[in-house]
Amino acid sequence: MSFCIAVDGPAGAGKSTIAKRLAGELGIVYVDTGAMYRAMAYHMIQKGTDLEDQEAVSRDCQDAEISIVYDQGEQVVLLNGENVTPYLREESVSGKASVCSANPDVRGRLVALQRKIAEHTDLVMDGRDIGTCVLPDAELKIYLTAGTHTRALRRYKELAQKGESCDLEQIERDIAERDYRDMHREFSPLKKAADAVEVDTSDMTIRQVEEAILSLVSERRGAESESRES
Ligand code: DC
Repeated sequence: MSFCIAVDGPAGAGKSTIAKRLAGELGIVYVDTGAMYRAMAYHMIQKGTDLEDQEAVSRDCQDAEISIVYDQGEQVVLLNGENVTPYLREESVSGKASVCSANPDVRGRLVALQRKIAEHTDLVMDGRDIGTCVLPDAELKIYLTAGTHTRALRRYKELAQKGESCDLEQIERDIAERDYRDMHREFSPLKKAADAVEVDTSDMTIRQVEEAILSLVSERRGAESESRES
Protein backbone atom coordinates (compact mmCIF):
# COMPACT_ATOMS: atom_id res chain seq x y z
CA MET A 1 0.00 0.00 0.00
CA SER A 2 1.33 3.41 -0.87
CA PHE A 3 1.34 6.47 1.42
CA CYS A 4 -0.79 9.21 -0.12
CA ILE A 5 -1.38 12.82 0.89
CA ALA A 6 -4.33 14.57 -0.77
CA VAL A 7 -4.20 18.37 -1.07
CA ASP A 8 -7.35 20.10 -2.32
CA GLY A 9 -8.55 23.68 -2.42
CA PRO A 10 -9.44 26.59 -4.68
CA ALA A 11 -7.12 28.17 -7.25
CA GLY A 12 -4.26 30.17 -5.77
CA ALA A 13 -4.48 28.79 -2.22
CA GLY A 14 -0.87 27.60 -2.58
CA LYS A 15 -1.58 23.92 -3.28
CA SER A 16 1.11 23.31 -5.88
CA THR A 17 3.83 25.25 -4.03
CA ILE A 18 3.09 23.44 -0.79
CA ALA A 19 2.51 20.00 -2.32
CA LYS A 20 5.77 20.22 -4.26
CA ARG A 21 7.74 21.23 -1.16
CA LEU A 22 6.14 18.51 0.95
CA ALA A 23 6.98 15.89 -1.66
CA GLY A 24 10.59 17.12 -1.77
CA GLU A 25 10.87 17.12 2.02
CA LEU A 26 9.37 13.61 2.33
CA GLY A 27 11.22 12.21 -0.69
CA ILE A 28 8.01 11.16 -2.44
CA VAL A 29 6.41 12.02 -5.79
CA TYR A 30 4.35 15.15 -6.46
CA VAL A 31 1.37 14.81 -8.82
CA ASP A 32 -0.29 17.98 -10.09
CA THR A 33 -3.71 16.84 -11.38
CA GLY A 34 -4.68 20.37 -12.47
CA ALA A 35 -2.01 20.07 -15.16
CA MET A 36 -3.85 17.03 -16.56
CA TYR A 37 -7.10 19.02 -16.86
CA ARG A 38 -5.11 21.85 -18.41
CA ALA A 39 -3.61 19.42 -20.94
CA MET A 40 -7.14 18.27 -21.77
CA ALA A 41 -8.21 21.90 -22.28
CA TYR A 42 -5.14 22.49 -24.46
CA HIS A 43 -6.13 19.47 -26.55
CA MET A 44 -9.65 20.91 -27.02
CA ILE A 45 -8.24 24.33 -27.96
CA GLN A 46 -6.01 22.69 -30.59
CA LYS A 47 -8.97 20.75 -31.96
CA GLY A 48 -11.27 23.78 -31.91
CA THR A 49 -13.83 21.93 -29.75
CA ASP A 50 -16.86 23.95 -28.69
CA LEU A 51 -16.64 23.63 -24.89
CA GLU A 52 -20.31 24.52 -24.49
CA ASP A 53 -21.18 21.37 -26.43
CA GLN A 54 -20.89 18.52 -23.91
CA GLU A 55 -21.25 15.83 -26.58
CA ALA A 56 -18.31 17.31 -28.47
CA VAL A 57 -16.22 17.48 -25.27
CA SER A 58 -17.09 13.85 -24.42
CA ARG A 59 -16.15 12.78 -27.95
CA ASP A 60 -12.96 14.80 -28.28
CA CYS A 61 -11.52 13.79 -24.90
CA GLN A 62 -11.36 10.19 -26.15
CA ASP A 63 -8.41 10.87 -28.42
CA ALA A 64 -6.33 12.68 -25.80
CA GLU A 65 -3.75 10.29 -24.38
CA ILE A 66 -2.42 12.08 -21.34
CA SER A 67 0.47 10.76 -19.29
CA ILE A 68 3.04 12.16 -16.93
CA VAL A 69 6.74 11.57 -16.64
CA TYR A 70 9.39 13.14 -14.43
CA ASP A 71 12.40 15.05 -15.65
CA GLN A 72 14.86 15.81 -12.82
CA GLY A 73 12.00 15.63 -10.33
CA GLU A 74 9.73 18.00 -12.33
CA GLN A 75 6.40 16.76 -13.62
CA VAL A 76 6.17 16.79 -17.42
CA VAL A 77 2.75 16.32 -19.06
CA LEU A 78 2.62 14.49 -22.35
CA LEU A 79 -0.37 14.89 -24.65
CA ASN A 80 -0.35 12.21 -27.34
CA GLY A 81 3.39 11.90 -26.77
CA GLU A 82 4.14 15.63 -27.00
CA ASN A 83 5.45 17.63 -24.05
CA VAL A 84 2.78 20.35 -23.60
CA THR A 85 3.91 21.51 -20.13
CA PRO A 86 5.15 24.96 -21.26
CA TYR A 87 1.67 25.94 -22.56
CA LEU A 88 -0.42 24.84 -19.60
CA ARG A 89 -0.14 27.81 -17.22
CA GLU A 90 -1.44 30.41 -19.69
CA GLU A 91 -4.55 32.26 -18.48
CA SER A 92 -6.50 31.24 -21.60
CA VAL A 93 -5.92 27.60 -20.69
CA SER A 94 -6.89 28.12 -16.99
CA GLY A 95 -10.47 29.18 -17.71
CA LYS A 96 -10.97 26.47 -20.33
CA ALA A 97 -9.56 23.79 -17.99
CA SER A 98 -12.18 24.74 -15.43
CA VAL A 99 -14.95 24.49 -18.07
CA CYS A 100 -13.89 21.16 -19.55
CA SER A 101 -13.18 19.62 -16.12
CA ALA A 102 -16.95 19.73 -15.48
CA ASN A 103 -17.48 17.04 -18.12
CA PRO A 104 -17.93 13.53 -16.60
CA ASP A 105 -16.09 11.75 -19.43
CA VAL A 106 -13.08 14.03 -19.05
CA ARG A 107 -13.11 13.37 -15.31
CA GLY A 108 -13.54 9.62 -15.77
CA ARG A 109 -10.42 9.40 -17.95
CA LEU A 110 -8.24 11.53 -15.71
CA VAL A 111 -9.39 10.07 -12.37
CA ALA A 112 -8.56 6.57 -13.67
CA LEU A 113 -5.05 7.76 -14.59
CA GLN A 114 -4.59 9.44 -11.18
CA ARG A 115 -5.68 6.33 -9.25
CA LYS A 116 -3.37 4.14 -11.32
CA ILE A 117 -0.39 6.38 -10.47
CA ALA A 118 -1.28 6.27 -6.75
CA GLU A 119 -1.60 2.47 -6.65
CA HIS A 120 2.07 1.76 -6.12
CA THR A 121 3.65 5.17 -5.51
CA ASP A 122 4.00 7.19 -2.32
CA LEU A 123 2.87 10.67 -3.30
CA VAL A 124 1.41 14.07 -2.63
CA MET A 125 -1.41 14.71 -5.11
CA ASP A 126 -3.10 18.07 -5.45
CA GLY A 127 -6.35 19.05 -7.13
CA ARG A 128 -10.02 19.64 -6.32
CA ASP A 129 -11.46 16.15 -5.71
CA ILE A 130 -8.47 14.17 -4.49
CA GLY A 131 -9.69 13.67 -0.90
CA THR A 132 -13.37 13.34 -1.84
CA CYS A 133 -13.16 11.16 -4.96
CA VAL A 134 -9.76 10.15 -6.35
CA LEU A 135 -8.11 8.92 -3.12
CA PRO A 136 -10.84 8.60 -0.49
CA ASP A 137 -8.49 6.45 1.65
CA ALA A 138 -5.53 8.86 1.59
CA GLU A 139 -3.59 8.81 4.88
CA LEU A 140 -3.78 12.59 5.17
CA LYS A 141 -6.16 15.03 3.53
CA ILE A 142 -5.49 18.75 3.53
CA TYR A 143 -7.94 21.44 2.41
CA LEU A 144 -5.96 24.60 1.68
CA THR A 145 -7.82 27.90 1.52
CA ALA A 146 -7.12 31.65 1.43
CA GLY A 147 -9.30 34.70 0.82
CA THR A 148 -10.08 35.59 -2.80
CA HIS A 149 -8.17 38.88 -2.61
CA THR A 150 -5.07 37.20 -1.15
CA ARG A 151 -5.13 34.58 -3.88
CA ALA A 152 -5.55 37.19 -6.63
CA LEU A 153 -2.67 39.20 -5.21
CA ARG A 154 -0.41 36.14 -5.21
CA ARG A 155 -1.26 35.44 -8.86
CA TYR A 156 -0.73 39.12 -9.74
CA LYS A 157 2.74 39.10 -8.19
CA GLU A 158 3.61 35.84 -9.95
CA LEU A 159 2.63 37.30 -13.35
CA ALA A 160 4.28 40.66 -12.64
CA GLN A 161 7.50 38.85 -11.73
CA LYS A 162 7.43 37.14 -15.12
CA GLY A 163 7.03 40.59 -16.71
CA GLU A 164 3.47 39.85 -17.90
CA SER A 165 1.02 42.75 -17.85
CA CYS A 166 -2.04 42.03 -15.72
CA ASP A 167 -4.95 43.66 -13.96
CA LEU A 168 -5.51 42.73 -10.31
CA GLU A 169 -9.27 43.29 -10.40
CA GLN A 170 -9.63 41.14 -13.52
CA ILE A 171 -7.57 38.36 -11.90
CA GLU A 172 -9.80 38.52 -8.81
CA ARG A 173 -12.95 38.30 -10.95
CA ASP A 174 -11.50 35.34 -12.91
CA ILE A 175 -10.57 33.50 -9.70
CA ALA A 176 -14.04 34.06 -8.21
CA GLU A 177 -15.67 32.82 -11.41
CA ARG A 178 -13.44 29.73 -11.52
CA ASP A 179 -14.12 28.96 -7.83
CA TYR A 180 -17.85 29.22 -8.42
CA ARG A 181 -17.70 26.86 -11.40
CA ASP A 182 -15.43 24.35 -9.61
CA MET A 183 -17.60 24.35 -6.47
CA HIS A 184 -20.98 24.15 -8.18
CA ARG A 185 -20.46 21.67 -10.99
CA GLU A 186 -22.52 18.50 -10.92
CA PHE A 187 -19.66 15.98 -10.90
CA SER A 188 -17.06 15.94 -8.10
CA PRO A 189 -17.35 19.61 -7.16
CA LEU A 190 -14.59 21.16 -5.06
CA LYS A 191 -15.44 20.63 -1.42
CA LYS A 192 -13.66 19.79 1.79
CA ALA A 193 -13.69 16.06 2.56
CA ALA A 194 -15.29 15.32 5.94
CA ASP A 195 -11.96 14.00 7.26
CA ALA A 196 -9.73 16.71 5.75
CA VAL A 197 -7.78 19.21 7.86
CA GLU A 198 -8.49 22.78 6.74
CA VAL A 199 -5.51 25.14 6.61
CA ASP A 200 -6.19 28.82 5.87
CA THR A 201 -2.95 30.12 4.35
CA SER A 202 -4.02 33.82 4.13
CA ASP A 203 -1.74 34.94 6.96
CA MET A 204 0.83 32.16 6.88
CA THR A 205 4.20 31.96 5.16
CA ILE A 206 4.93 29.01 2.90
CA ARG A 207 7.32 27.64 5.52
CA GLN A 208 4.66 27.86 8.26
CA VAL A 209 2.14 25.97 6.12
CA GLU A 210 4.74 23.36 5.27
CA GLU A 211 5.71 22.86 8.92
CA ALA A 212 2.07 22.58 10.02
CA ILE A 213 1.43 19.85 7.44
CA LEU A 214 4.70 18.03 8.14
CA SER A 215 3.75 17.76 11.79
CA LEU A 216 0.39 16.25 10.76
CA VAL A 217 2.30 13.77 8.57
CA SER A 218 4.48 12.73 11.54
CA GLU A 219 1.37 12.29 13.70
CA ARG A 220 -0.31 10.09 11.08
CA ARG A 221 2.80 8.03 10.47
CA GLY A 222 3.31 7.62 14.22
CA ALA A 223 -0.29 6.51 14.67
CA GLU A 224 0.08 4.07 11.76
CA SER A 225 3.20 2.38 13.11
CA GLU A 226 1.65 2.17 16.60
CA SER A 227 -1.41 0.42 15.19
CA ARG A 228 0.84 -1.99 13.23
CA GLU A 229 2.83 -2.82 16.40
CA SER A 230 -0.23 -3.44 18.62
O1 DC B 1 -5.20 23.41 -10.06
P1 DC B 1 -5.32 24.10 -11.43
O2 DC B 1 -5.66 25.55 -11.36
O3 DC B 1 -4.14 23.83 -12.30
O4 DC B 1 -6.59 23.36 -12.13
C1 DC B 1 -7.10 23.75 -13.38
C2 DC B 1 -8.58 23.42 -13.44
O5 DC B 1 -8.75 22.00 -13.44
C3 DC B 1 -9.41 23.92 -12.26
O6 DC B 1 -10.18 25.06 -12.61
C4 DC B 1 -10.34 22.82 -11.89
C5 DC B 1 -9.83 21.61 -12.62
N1 DC B 1 -9.40 20.53 -11.73
C6 DC B 1 -10.36 19.63 -11.34
O7 DC B 1 -11.52 19.78 -11.67
N2 DC B 1 -9.98 18.56 -10.58
C7 DC B 1 -8.72 18.40 -10.20
N3 DC B 1 -8.39 17.31 -9.47
C8 DC B 1 -7.73 19.34 -10.56
C9 DC B 1 -8.11 20.41 -11.32
